[in-house]
Amino acid sequence: MTARPNFPAEGGLAPAPVPSVAFRQAMAQVTASVHVITTARDGHRAGLTASAVTSLSDAPPMMLVCIHHDSNTLAQIEANGLFCINTLSGDDQAVAEIFAGRKGLEGEARFGVGNWTIAVTGAPVLASALNSFDCRLVDVRTMATHRIVIGEVLALGGSQDGPGLIYRNRRFGTF
Ligand SMILES: Cc1cc2nc3c(=O)[nH]c(=O)nc-3n(C[C@H](O)[C@H](O)[C@H](O)COP(=O)(O)O)c2cc1C
Repeated sequence: MTARPNFPAEGGLAPAPVPSVAFRQAMAQVTASVHVITTARDGHRAGLTASAVTSLSDAPPMMLVCIHHDSNTLAQIEANGLFCINTLSGDDQAVAEIFAGRKGLEGEARFGVGNWTIAVTGAPVLASALNSFDCRLVDVRTMATHRIVIGEVLALGGSQDGPGLIYRNRRFGTF
């Protein structure tokens, strides 16, 4: 069996720090579900596309999302104390691109595509989403360039049916 490159032998010295470009390339091979994280207060809506999303516990039901500290939506999530994680269906690629900022739209202007309703918390819900995890913000932890945003799930919605939107190797697909 050949040794894997950049992998220290057991008990050996740690290798040199991994360059961020190599790390990004490795992460590009990790297939991810795609979500839009939304928030709102007094009719002011905001949202971003995110793949760094996972469940944290089931009792109580909790989710976490990792968001870059420069995100406009992050600031509003923190101010509003609520957010909704909309898990995108295979038909929602255009929504993912808009909320990733690829069409040059910001804030409210991103909600021009998709059928949006309002969750229990008041956060925007995408009608076509596979899941909507409607969350009360419970904690925010800073780590490197990102904040780990933790929410308690107060309500669930979504079709839970049909293909989901996925992202791998910097391309969208469906599964
Ligand atoms: C597939 C995909 C996944 C993304 N995942 C994340 C993520 O998990 N966290 C994050 O901070 N940004 C992520 N982004 C980038 C944000 O969507 C993008 O920077 C967005 O414009 C931020 O908007 P805002 O500044 O209005 O909040 C992702 C982009 C794409 C295309």
